[in-house]
Amino acid sequence: MKRRNFLKTSGIVTAGSLLMAPSTSFGFPVTADKKRIALVGTGSRGPTMWGKSLLEDYNELIEFVGLCDINPGRLSFAREFMGVSCPVFTDFTEMMVKTKPEILIVTTVDATHDEFIVKGMEMGADVISEKPMTTDEVKCQRILDAEKKTGRKLRVTFNYRYGTLFTKIKEILTENRIGRVTSVDFHWYLNTFHGADYFRRWHGIRSKSGTLLVHKASHHFDLLNWWIDSDPVEVHAYGKLEHYGRNNDFRGNKCRSCQYATNCKFFWDITKNDYYMKLYVANENHDGYIRDNCLWREEIDIFDKMAVQVKYANDVQVSYSLTTYSPYEGLTIAFNGMNGRLDSWQDLPWREQDKVNQAERHVKEMEQNAGENREDFDEIVLSDNFGASQMVHVPKIRGGHGGGDRRLKDQIFRGESIPDPLHHAAGSRDGAMSILLGIAARKSIDEGRSVRIEELTDIKPHVTRGR
Ligand SMILES: NC(=O)c1ccc[n+]([C@@H]2O[C@H](COP(=O)([O-])OP(=O)(O)OC[C@H]3O[C@@H](n4cnc5c(N)ncnc54)[C@H](O)[C@@H]3O)[C@@H](O)[C@H]2O)c1
Repeated sequence: MKRRNFLKTSGIVTAGSLLMAPSTSFGFPVTADKKRIALVGTGSRGPTMWGKSLLEDYNELIEFVGLCDINPGRLSFAREFMGVSCPVFTDFTEMMVKTKPEILIVTTVDATHDEFIVKGMEMGADVISEKPMTTDEVKCQRILDAEKKTGRKLRVTFNYRYGTLFTKIKEILTENRIGRVTSVDFHWYLNTFHGADYFRRWHGIRSKSGTLLVHKASHHFDLLNWWIDSDPVEVHAYGKLEHYGRNNDFRGNKCRSCQYATNCKFFWDITKNDYYMKLYVANENHDGYIRDNCLWREEIDIFDKMAVQVKYANDVQVSYSLTTYSPYEGLTIAFNGMNGRLDSWQDLPWREQDKVNQAERHVKEMEQNAGENREDFDEIVLSDNFGASQMVHVPKIRGGHGGGDRRLKDQIFRGESIPDPLHHAAGSRDGAMSILLGIAARKSIDEGRSVRIEELTDIKPHVTRGR
Protein backbone atom coordinates (compact mmCIF):
# COMPACT_ATOMS: atom_id res chain seq x y z
CA MET A 1 0.00 0.00 0.00
CA LYS A 2 2.92 2.34 0.54
CA ARG A 3 3.12 3.62 -3.06
CA ARG A 4 -0.57 4.40 -3.22
CA ASN A 5 -1.61 7.94 -3.74
CA PHE A 6 -5.03 8.38 -2.17
CA LEU A 7 -7.01 10.94 -4.07
CA LYS A 8 -9.49 13.08 -2.22
CA THR A 9 -13.11 12.51 -3.16
CA SER A 10 -13.47 16.13 -4.03
CA GLY A 11 -10.51 15.98 -6.42
CA ILE A 12 -11.79 13.35 -8.81
CA VAL A 13 -14.17 13.51 -11.70
CA THR A 14 -17.43 12.24 -10.21
CA ALA A 15 -19.31 9.44 -11.87
CA GLY A 16 -22.13 11.50 -13.23
CA SER A 17 -20.03 14.35 -14.55
CA LEU A 18 -19.58 12.86 -18.01
CA LEU A 19 -23.32 12.74 -18.61
CA MET A 20 -23.00 15.79 -20.81
CA ALA A 21 -22.86 15.46 -24.59
CA PRO A 22 -24.94 14.53 -27.62
CA SER A 23 -28.44 13.18 -27.08
CA THR A 24 -29.51 9.53 -27.05
CA SER A 25 -31.80 8.08 -29.65
CA PHE A 26 -33.55 5.98 -26.98
CA GLY A 27 -35.04 8.81 -24.94
CA PHE A 28 -38.68 9.42 -25.72
CA PRO A 29 -39.23 12.88 -27.19
CA VAL A 30 -40.60 15.41 -24.71
CA THR A 31 -43.74 16.90 -26.27
CA ALA A 32 -46.41 19.29 -25.08
CA ASP A 33 -48.88 16.43 -24.53
CA LYS A 34 -48.46 13.99 -21.70
CA LYS A 35 -47.28 10.54 -22.83
CA ARG A 36 -50.03 7.93 -22.51
CA ILE A 37 -48.59 5.01 -20.55
CA ALA A 38 -49.93 1.52 -19.86
CA LEU A 39 -48.31 -0.92 -17.42
CA VAL A 40 -48.57 -4.71 -17.49
CA GLY A 41 -47.47 -6.59 -14.36
CA THR A 42 -48.54 -4.96 -11.09
CA GLY A 43 -46.36 -6.94 -8.69
CA SER A 44 -43.65 -5.33 -6.63
CA ARG A 45 -41.52 -3.64 -9.33
CA GLY A 46 -44.27 -2.22 -11.57
CA PRO A 47 -46.35 -0.05 -9.22
CA THR A 48 -43.26 1.29 -7.39
CA MET A 49 -40.32 2.00 -9.72
CA TRP A 50 -42.52 2.28 -12.84
CA GLY A 51 -45.70 3.53 -11.11
CA LYS A 52 -45.82 5.70 -8.04
CA SER A 53 -42.29 7.07 -8.28
CA LEU A 54 -42.72 7.77 -12.01
CA LEU A 55 -45.80 9.86 -11.23
CA GLU A 56 -44.00 11.68 -8.44
CA ASP A 57 -41.01 12.61 -10.59
CA TYR A 58 -42.44 13.01 -14.11
CA ASN A 59 -46.05 13.98 -13.50
CA GLU A 60 -45.91 16.82 -16.03
CA LEU A 61 -44.76 14.42 -18.77
CA ILE A 62 -46.85 11.28 -18.36
CA GLU A 63 -50.29 9.88 -17.56
CA PHE A 64 -51.33 6.29 -16.88
CA VAL A 65 -54.14 5.15 -19.15
CA GLY A 66 -54.33 1.49 -18.10
CA LEU A 67 -52.98 -1.17 -15.73
CA CYS A 68 -53.03 -4.91 -16.42
CA ASP A 69 -52.29 -8.06 -14.42
CA ILE A 70 -53.72 -11.57 -14.27
CA ASN A 71 -54.35 -11.10 -10.55
CA PRO A 72 -57.35 -8.75 -10.05
CA GLY A 73 -56.50 -8.23 -6.37
CA ARG A 74 -52.95 -7.05 -7.02
CA LEU A 75 -54.32 -4.92 -9.82
CA SER A 76 -56.71 -2.95 -7.64
CA PHE A 77 -54.12 -2.67 -4.86
CA ALA A 78 -51.68 -1.23 -7.40
CA ARG A 79 -54.19 1.35 -8.62
CA GLU A 80 -54.80 2.50 -5.07
CA PHE A 81 -51.09 2.45 -4.18
CA MET A 82 -50.20 4.51 -7.28
CA GLY A 83 -53.09 6.91 -6.68
CA VAL A 84 -54.40 6.71 -10.24
CA SER A 85 -57.94 6.44 -11.56
CA CYS A 86 -57.25 4.77 -14.92
CA PRO A 87 -59.11 1.58 -15.88
CA VAL A 88 -57.64 -1.82 -14.94
CA PHE A 89 -57.67 -4.96 -17.07
CA THR A 90 -56.99 -8.66 -16.65
CA ASP A 91 -56.96 -8.99 -20.46
CA PHE A 92 -53.91 -7.41 -22.09
CA THR A 93 -55.33 -7.13 -25.62
CA GLU A 94 -58.45 -5.44 -24.30
CA MET A 95 -56.28 -2.88 -22.48
CA MET A 96 -54.28 -2.13 -25.61
CA VAL A 97 -57.38 -1.78 -27.80
CA LYS A 98 -59.30 0.38 -25.35
CA THR A 99 -56.52 2.63 -24.07
CA LYS A 100 -54.17 2.95 -27.08
CA PRO A 101 -51.01 3.74 -25.06
CA GLU A 102 -47.98 5.36 -26.67
CA ILE A 103 -45.67 3.64 -24.20
CA LEU A 104 -46.13 0.18 -22.72
CA ILE A 105 -44.15 -0.77 -19.60
CA VAL A 106 -43.60 -4.50 -19.08
CA THR A 107 -42.96 -5.70 -15.51
CA THR A 108 -44.40 -9.19 -15.52
CA VAL A 109 -42.72 -12.55 -14.79
CA ASP A 110 -39.60 -12.81 -16.99
CA ALA A 111 -40.75 -15.65 -19.26
CA THR A 112 -43.87 -13.67 -20.23
CA HIS A 113 -42.08 -10.45 -21.30
CA ASP A 114 -41.86 -11.48 -24.97
CA GLU A 115 -45.63 -11.89 -25.28
CA PHE A 116 -46.29 -8.30 -24.19
CA ILE A 117 -43.27 -6.72 -25.91
CA VAL A 118 -44.23 -8.25 -29.27
CA LYS A 119 -47.96 -7.62 -28.99
CA GLY A 120 -47.36 -4.14 -27.59
CA MET A 121 -45.18 -3.14 -30.55
CA GLU A 122 -47.60 -4.76 -33.01
CA MET A 123 -50.38 -2.69 -31.47
CA GLY A 124 -48.47 0.55 -31.99
CA ALA A 125 -46.67 1.23 -28.69
CA ASP A 126 -43.02 1.84 -27.90
CA VAL A 127 -42.02 -0.53 -25.12
CA ILE A 128 -39.98 -0.24 -21.95
CA SER A 129 -39.23 -3.71 -20.64
CA GLU A 130 -37.71 -4.67 -17.35
CA LYS A 131 -34.67 -6.89 -17.63
CA PRO A 132 -34.24 -9.65 -18.61
CA MET A 133 -35.66 -8.90 -22.06
CA THR A 134 -36.77 -12.54 -22.20
CA THR A 135 -35.62 -16.01 -21.16
CA ASP A 136 -34.72 -18.07 -24.23
CA GLU A 137 -33.28 -17.62 -27.69
CA VAL A 138 -36.51 -18.36 -29.60
CA LYS A 139 -38.41 -15.63 -27.73
CA CYS A 140 -35.42 -13.32 -28.16
CA GLN A 141 -35.52 -13.75 -31.94
CA ARG A 142 -39.28 -13.07 -31.96
CA ILE A 143 -38.72 -9.78 -30.18
CA LEU A 144 -35.93 -8.72 -32.54
CA ASP A 145 -38.08 -9.61 -35.56
CA ALA A 146 -41.10 -7.73 -34.19
CA GLU A 147 -39.05 -4.61 -33.54
CA LYS A 148 -37.74 -4.67 -37.10
CA LYS A 149 -41.18 -5.32 -38.58
CA THR A 150 -43.10 -2.73 -36.60
CA GLY A 151 -40.45 0.01 -36.46
CA ARG A 152 -41.32 0.63 -32.80
CA LYS A 153 -38.70 1.28 -30.10
CA LEU A 154 -37.83 -1.19 -27.35
CA ARG A 155 -35.84 -0.05 -24.39
CA VAL A 156 -34.48 -2.52 -21.79
CA THR A 157 -34.02 -1.03 -18.35
CA PHE A 158 -30.45 -1.79 -17.34
CA ASN A 159 -30.42 0.41 -14.25
CA TYR A 160 -27.07 -1.03 -13.01
CA ARG A 161 -25.22 0.83 -15.77
CA TYR A 162 -26.27 4.13 -14.21
CA GLY A 163 -24.88 3.38 -10.72
CA THR A 164 -22.08 5.76 -9.75
CA LEU A 165 -19.38 3.07 -9.31
CA PHE A 166 -20.22 1.28 -12.54
CA THR A 167 -20.35 4.56 -14.46
CA LYS A 168 -16.96 5.55 -13.06
CA ILE A 169 -15.45 2.22 -14.14
CA LYS A 170 -16.81 2.80 -17.66
CA GLU A 171 -15.36 6.29 -17.67
CA ILE A 172 -11.89 5.05 -16.63
CA LEU A 173 -11.92 2.28 -19.23
CA THR A 174 -13.09 4.70 -21.92
CA GLU A 175 -10.16 6.97 -21.03
CA ASN A 176 -7.85 3.98 -21.62
CA ARG A 177 -6.22 4.43 -18.20
CA ILE A 178 -4.97 0.80 -17.94
CA GLY A 179 -4.29 0.31 -21.65
CA ARG A 180 -6.07 -2.31 -23.77
CA VAL A 181 -8.10 -4.58 -21.48
CA THR A 182 -7.19 -8.25 -21.89
CA SER A 183 -9.10 -10.06 -19.14
CA VAL A 184 -11.70 -9.48 -16.41
CA ASP A 185 -12.46 -11.25 -13.12
CA PHE A 186 -16.01 -10.53 -11.90
CA HIS A 187 -17.57 -12.21 -8.86
CA TRP A 188 -20.98 -11.42 -7.41
CA TYR A 189 -22.14 -12.57 -3.99
CA LEU A 190 -25.81 -12.73 -3.02
CA ASN A 191 -26.36 -13.19 0.68
CA THR A 192 -28.49 -15.61 2.65
CA PHE A 193 -31.40 -13.15 2.63
CA HIS A 194 -31.44 -11.66 -0.88
CA GLY A 195 -29.93 -14.75 -2.53
CA ALA A 196 -32.39 -17.01 -0.71
CA ASP A 197 -35.34 -14.84 -1.71
CA TYR A 198 -34.99 -15.87 -5.36
CA PHE A 199 -35.73 -19.45 -4.28
CA ARG A 200 -38.96 -18.54 -2.47
CA ARG A 201 -40.93 -17.74 -5.62
CA TRP A 202 -41.06 -18.00 -9.44
CA HIS A 203 -37.38 -17.11 -9.91
CA GLY A 204 -36.53 -20.62 -8.66
CA ILE A 205 -38.37 -22.18 -11.60
CA ARG A 206 -36.34 -22.28 -14.80
CA SER A 207 -39.35 -22.03 -17.13
CA LYS A 208 -40.31 -18.71 -15.48
CA SER A 209 -36.96 -17.00 -14.85
CA GLY A 210 -34.61 -18.75 -17.26
CA THR A 211 -32.41 -19.46 -14.17
CA LEU A 212 -30.39 -16.80 -12.34
CA LEU A 213 -27.93 -16.87 -15.26
CA VAL A 214 -30.65 -14.98 -17.13
CA HIS A 215 -32.76 -13.35 -14.42
CA LYS A 216 -29.92 -11.99 -12.27
CA ALA A 217 -26.66 -12.40 -14.18
CA SER A 218 -28.07 -10.58 -17.24
CA HIS A 219 -27.49 -7.38 -15.20
CA HIS A 220 -23.84 -8.37 -14.78
CA PHE A 221 -23.43 -9.63 -18.34
CA ASP A 222 -24.82 -6.36 -19.63
CA LEU A 223 -22.28 -4.46 -17.53
CA LEU A 224 -19.48 -6.64 -18.92
CA ASN A 225 -20.63 -6.13 -22.52
CA TRP A 226 -20.86 -2.38 -21.95
CA TRP A 227 -17.52 -2.06 -20.13
CA ILE A 228 -15.61 -4.33 -22.51
CA ASP A 229 -17.39 -2.66 -25.43
CA SER A 230 -17.45 -5.81 -27.51
CA ASP A 231 -19.76 -8.80 -28.03
CA PRO A 232 -19.33 -12.20 -26.36
CA VAL A 233 -18.58 -15.00 -28.85
CA GLU A 234 -18.10 -18.18 -26.84
CA VAL A 235 -19.20 -19.32 -23.38
CA HIS A 236 -18.36 -22.27 -21.16
CA ALA A 237 -20.03 -22.66 -17.79
CA TYR A 238 -20.58 -24.85 -14.76
CA GLY A 239 -23.49 -24.69 -12.36
CA LYS A 240 -25.21 -26.77 -9.72
CA LEU A 241 -28.09 -26.71 -7.25
CA GLU A 242 -26.56 -27.95 -4.04
CA HIS A 243 -27.81 -25.67 -1.28
CA TYR A 244 -31.50 -24.79 -1.77
CA GLY A 245 -34.41 -26.81 -3.19
CA ARG A 246 -34.23 -30.55 -2.59
CA ASN A 247 -30.96 -30.18 -0.63
CA ASN A 248 -32.50 -30.22 2.83
CA ASP A 249 -33.95 -32.81 5.21
CA PHE A 250 -37.20 -30.95 5.80
CA ARG A 251 -39.50 -28.70 3.81
CA GLY A 252 -42.69 -26.94 4.79
CA ASN A 253 -45.57 -25.12 3.21
CA LYS A 254 -45.21 -21.35 3.51
CA CYS A 255 -43.06 -19.71 6.20
CA ARG A 256 -46.13 -18.21 7.88
CA SER A 257 -47.56 -21.59 8.86
CA CYS A 258 -44.43 -23.73 8.77
CA GLN A 259 -43.89 -26.35 11.47
CA TYR A 260 -40.13 -25.85 11.07
CA ALA A 261 -40.29 -22.08 11.63
CA THR A 262 -38.20 -22.24 14.78
CA ASN A 263 -35.37 -24.38 13.42
CA CYS A 264 -35.17 -23.21 9.78
CA LYS A 265 -32.37 -20.64 9.43
CA PHE A 266 -34.22 -19.19 6.44
CA PHE A 267 -37.54 -18.56 8.20
CA TRP A 268 -38.88 -15.22 6.96
CA ASP A 269 -41.84 -13.48 8.57
CA ILE A 270 -43.78 -11.80 5.77
CA THR A 271 -46.46 -10.68 8.25
CA LYS A 272 -44.05 -7.97 9.45
CA ASN A 273 -44.14 -6.35 6.00
CA ASP A 274 -47.42 -4.50 5.57
CA TYR A 275 -46.83 -3.75 1.87
CA TYR A 276 -46.15 -7.42 1.03
CA MET A 277 -49.17 -8.51 3.07
CA LYS A 278 -51.41 -6.22 1.01
CA LEU A 279 -49.75 -6.91 -2.34
CA TYR A 280 -49.22 -10.65 -2.14
CA VAL A 281 -50.82 -12.38 0.85
CA ALA A 282 -54.20 -10.67 0.53
CA ASN A 283 -54.39 -11.81 -3.11
CA GLU A 284 -53.17 -15.41 -2.87
CA ASN A 285 -56.72 -16.67 -3.33
CA HIS A 286 -56.78 -15.44 -6.97
CA ASP A 287 -53.75 -17.28 -8.31
CA GLY A 288 -51.96 -19.19 -5.52
CA TYR A 289 -48.84 -16.98 -5.71
CA ILE A 290 -47.19 -17.62 -2.31
CA ARG A 291 -44.58 -14.91 -1.69
CA ASP A 292 -43.11 -16.64 1.40
CA ASN A 293 -42.99 -20.08 -0.19
CA CYS A 294 -40.53 -22.72 1.06
CA LEU A 295 -37.07 -22.43 -0.48
CA TRP A 296 -36.58 -26.16 0.05
CA ARG A 297 -39.33 -26.96 -2.52
CA GLU A 298 -38.58 -30.04 -4.65
CA GLU A 299 -39.73 -28.19 -7.79
CA ILE A 300 -36.81 -25.71 -7.69
CA ASP A 301 -34.71 -26.43 -10.77
CA ILE A 302 -32.25 -23.53 -11.13
CA PHE A 303 -28.57 -23.43 -10.16
CA ASP A 304 -27.47 -21.84 -6.90
CA LYS A 305 -23.77 -21.61 -7.78
CA MET A 306 -22.53 -20.65 -11.22
CA ALA A 307 -19.13 -20.18 -12.86
CA VAL A 308 -18.88 -18.80 -16.40
CA GLN A 309 -15.94 -18.32 -18.77
CA VAL A 310 -16.50 -15.94 -21.69
CA LYS A 311 -14.41 -15.08 -24.74
CA TYR A 312 -15.20 -11.76 -26.39
CA ALA A 313 -14.87 -10.78 -30.05
CA ASN A 314 -12.03 -8.39 -29.12
CA ASP A 315 -10.19 -11.26 -27.36
CA VAL A 316 -10.98 -10.16 -23.81
CA GLN A 317 -11.44 -13.20 -21.53
CA VAL A 318 -13.84 -13.10 -18.57
CA SER A 319 -14.12 -15.25 -15.44
CA TYR A 320 -17.50 -14.65 -13.79
CA SER A 321 -19.20 -16.31 -10.84
CA LEU A 322 -22.48 -15.93 -8.97
CA THR A 323 -23.05 -17.25 -5.45
CA THR A 324 -26.46 -17.26 -3.77
CA TYR A 325 -25.77 -18.12 -0.11
CA SER A 326 -22.95 -15.81 0.88
CA PRO A 327 -22.80 -14.39 4.44
CA TYR A 328 -22.70 -10.93 2.88
CA GLU A 329 -23.86 -9.23 -0.30
CA GLY A 330 -21.13 -7.74 -2.46
CA LEU A 331 -18.90 -7.97 -5.48
CA THR A 332 -15.29 -7.93 -6.57
CA ILE A 333 -14.11 -6.96 -10.04
CA ALA A 334 -10.71 -6.59 -11.68
CA PHE A 335 -9.73 -5.54 -15.19
CA ASN A 336 -6.26 -6.53 -16.40
CA GLY A 337 -4.91 -4.19 -19.04
CA MET A 338 -1.69 -4.03 -21.07
CA ASN A 339 -0.48 -1.10 -18.93
CA GLY A 340 -2.05 -1.76 -15.55
CA ARG A 341 -4.97 -3.04 -13.56
CA LEU A 342 -8.26 -1.74 -12.18
CA ASP A 343 -9.55 -3.31 -8.96
CA SER A 344 -12.87 -2.54 -7.35
CA TRP A 345 -15.35 -4.05 -4.94
CA GLN A 346 -18.57 -3.18 -3.21
CA ASP A 347 -19.89 -3.90 0.28
CA LEU A 348 -17.15 -6.29 1.40
CA PRO A 349 -17.51 -6.26 5.20
CA TRP A 350 -13.80 -5.98 6.01
CA ARG A 351 -13.39 -3.03 3.62
CA GLU A 352 -16.46 -1.27 5.01
CA GLN A 353 -14.89 -1.61 8.43
CA ASP A 354 -11.54 -0.44 7.14
CA LYS A 355 -13.08 2.59 5.42
CA VAL A 356 -14.49 3.76 8.71
CA ASN A 357 -11.15 3.22 10.39
CA GLN A 358 -8.96 4.80 7.72
CA ALA A 359 -11.13 7.66 6.54
CA GLU A 360 -12.48 8.70 9.86
CA ARG A 361 -10.19 7.62 12.58
CA HIS A 362 -8.89 11.11 13.17
CA VAL A 363 -12.26 12.79 12.81
CA LYS A 364 -13.81 10.25 15.12
CA GLU A 365 -11.18 10.95 17.70
CA MET A 366 -12.05 14.64 17.50
CA GLU A 367 -15.83 14.39 17.15
CA GLN A 368 -18.24 12.10 18.99
CA ASN A 369 -20.88 11.99 16.26
CA ALA A 370 -18.64 11.87 13.17
CA GLY A 371 -19.85 8.40 12.18
CA GLU A 372 -23.39 9.62 11.66
CA ASN A 373 -22.30 12.25 9.16
CA ARG A 374 -19.87 10.11 7.23
CA GLU A 375 -20.01 10.57 3.46
CA ASP A 376 -20.09 7.11 1.92
CA PHE A 377 -18.03 6.15 -1.10
CA ASP A 378 -16.93 3.20 -3.24
CA GLU A 379 -13.32 2.52 -4.07
CA ILE A 380 -11.38 1.83 -7.24
CA VAL A 381 -7.65 1.10 -7.20
CA LEU A 382 -5.78 1.90 -10.41
CA SER A 383 -2.33 0.31 -10.58
CA ASP A 384 0.28 1.07 -13.19
CA ASN A 385 2.30 -2.02 -14.28
CA PHE A 386 5.58 -0.25 -13.49
CA GLY A 387 4.43 2.69 -11.37
CA ALA A 388 2.22 3.80 -8.58
CA SER A 389 -1.28 2.81 -7.48
CA GLN A 390 -4.05 5.33 -6.99
CA MET A 391 -7.17 5.03 -4.90
CA VAL A 392 -10.20 6.67 -6.51
CA HIS A 393 -13.19 7.40 -4.30
CA VAL A 394 -16.59 7.36 -5.97
CA PRO A 395 -19.48 8.97 -4.08
CA LYS A 396 -21.95 6.26 -3.16
CA ILE A 397 -25.71 6.54 -3.37
CA ARG A 398 -27.62 4.02 -1.28
CA GLY A 399 -30.98 2.72 -2.50
CA GLY A 400 -32.54 2.64 -5.97
CA HIS A 401 -29.66 0.47 -7.24
CA GLY A 402 -26.93 2.99 -6.46
CA GLY A 403 -29.00 5.88 -7.79
CA GLY A 404 -29.23 4.08 -11.14
CA ASP A 405 -33.03 3.76 -11.09
CA ARG A 406 -33.46 7.53 -11.01
CA ARG A 407 -30.85 8.34 -13.65
CA LEU A 408 -32.26 5.68 -15.95
CA LYS A 409 -35.75 7.18 -15.73
CA ASP A 410 -34.44 10.69 -16.26
CA GLN A 411 -32.78 9.57 -19.44
CA ILE A 412 -35.93 7.85 -20.70
CA PHE A 413 -38.46 10.53 -19.81
CA ARG A 414 -36.34 13.63 -20.23
CA GLY A 415 -34.41 11.92 -22.99
CA GLU A 416 -34.21 14.80 -25.43
CA SER A 417 -32.26 16.94 -23.02
CA ILE A 418 -30.05 14.37 -21.33
CA PRO A 419 -26.79 13.59 -23.13
CA ASP A 420 -25.30 10.11 -23.23
CA PRO A 421 -21.55 10.14 -23.94
CA LEU A 422 -20.88 6.80 -22.21
CA HIS A 423 -23.77 5.11 -24.04
CA HIS A 424 -25.77 4.19 -20.95
CA ALA A 425 -29.01 3.79 -22.93
CA ALA A 426 -29.74 0.17 -23.82
CA GLY A 427 -31.90 -1.04 -26.68
CA SER A 428 -32.97 -4.46 -27.88
CA ARG A 429 -29.52 -5.52 -29.14
CA ASP A 430 -28.01 -4.85 -25.71
CA GLY A 431 -30.97 -6.58 -24.06
CA ALA A 432 -30.45 -9.56 -26.38
CA MET A 433 -26.69 -9.81 -25.87
CA SER A 434 -26.99 -9.82 -22.08
CA ILE A 435 -29.49 -12.67 -22.03
CA LEU A 436 -27.82 -14.61 -24.86
CA LEU A 437 -24.71 -14.79 -22.69
CA GLY A 438 -26.81 -16.24 -19.83
CA ILE A 439 -28.72 -18.56 -22.19
CA ALA A 440 -25.42 -19.79 -23.67
CA ALA A 441 -24.08 -20.40 -20.14
CA ARG A 442 -27.23 -22.36 -19.23
CA LYS A 443 -26.94 -24.42 -22.43
CA SER A 444 -23.26 -25.03 -21.75
CA ILE A 445 -24.06 -26.44 -18.28
CA ASP A 446 -26.92 -28.57 -19.64
CA GLU A 447 -24.98 -29.93 -22.60
CA GLY A 448 -21.45 -29.99 -21.16
CA ARG A 449 -19.90 -28.05 -24.03
CA SER A 450 -18.84 -24.57 -25.09
CA VAL A 451 -21.64 -22.62 -26.76
CA ARG A 452 -21.15 -19.98 -29.42
CA ILE A 453 -23.41 -16.93 -29.26
CA GLU A 454 -24.00 -17.02 -33.02
CA GLU A 455 -25.71 -20.44 -32.61
CA LEU A 456 -28.61 -18.82 -30.82
CA THR A 457 -30.15 -16.05 -32.95
CA ASP A 458 -29.39 -14.15 -36.15
CA ILE A 459 -27.28 -11.58 -34.23
CA LYS A 460 -23.62 -11.85 -35.22
CA PRO A 461 -21.14 -10.93 -32.47
CA HIS A 462 -19.09 -7.90 -33.39
CA VAL A 463 -15.73 -6.62 -32.15
CA THR A 464 -17.28 -3.23 -31.36
CA ARG A 465 -20.70 -4.31 -30.08
CA GLY A 466 -22.46 -4.13 -33.42
CA ARG A 467 -22.00 -0.43 -34.01
N1 LIG B 1 -34.06 -3.91 -12.84
C1 LIG B 1 -34.15 -4.37 -11.61
O1 LIG B 1 -33.28 -4.11 -10.80
C2 LIG B 1 -35.36 -5.20 -11.22
C3 LIG B 1 -35.70 -5.33 -9.87
C4 LIG B 1 -36.82 -6.10 -9.55
C5 LIG B 1 -37.56 -6.72 -10.55
N2 LIG B 1 -37.17 -6.56 -11.86
C6 LIG B 1 -37.94 -7.21 -12.93
O2 LIG B 1 -39.28 -6.75 -12.89
C7 LIG B 1 -40.18 -7.79 -13.28
C8 LIG B 1 -41.24 -7.96 -12.19
O3 LIG B 1 -40.61 -8.37 -10.98
P1 LIG B 1 -41.41 -8.32 -9.59
O4 LIG B 1 -40.41 -8.49 -8.52
O5 LIG B 1 -42.32 -7.17 -9.58
O6 LIG B 1 -42.28 -9.67 -9.71
P2 LIG B 1 -43.71 -9.94 -9.06
O7 LIG B 1 -43.86 -11.40 -9.04
O8 LIG B 1 -43.85 -9.19 -7.80
O9 LIG B 1 -44.72 -9.30 -10.11
C9 LIG B 1 -44.96 -9.86 -11.37
C10 LIG B 1 -46.42 -9.57 -11.71
O10 LIG B 1 -46.65 -10.04 -13.05
C11 LIG B 1 -47.95 -10.61 -13.07
N3 LIG B 1 -48.06 -11.53 -14.20
C12 LIG B 1 -47.47 -12.72 -14.35
N4 LIG B 1 -47.82 -13.27 -15.53
C13 LIG B 1 -48.67 -12.39 -16.13
C14 LIG B 1 -49.37 -12.38 -17.34
N5 LIG B 1 -49.29 -13.42 -18.19
N6 LIG B 1 -50.15 -11.31 -17.63
C15 LIG B 1 -50.23 -10.26 -16.78
N7 LIG B 1 -49.58 -10.22 -15.60
C16 LIG B 1 -48.81 -11.27 -15.27
C17 LIG B 1 -48.08 -11.29 -11.71
O11 LIG B 1 -49.41 -11.55 -11.39
C18 LIG B 1 -47.40 -10.29 -10.79
O12 LIG B 1 -48.33 -9.38 -10.26
C19 LIG B 1 -39.32 -9.02 -13.52
O13 LIG B 1 -39.08 -9.17 -14.89
C20 LIG B 1 -38.04 -8.73 -12.80
O14 LIG B 1 -36.92 -9.35 -13.40
C21 LIG B 1 -36.10 -5.80 -12.19
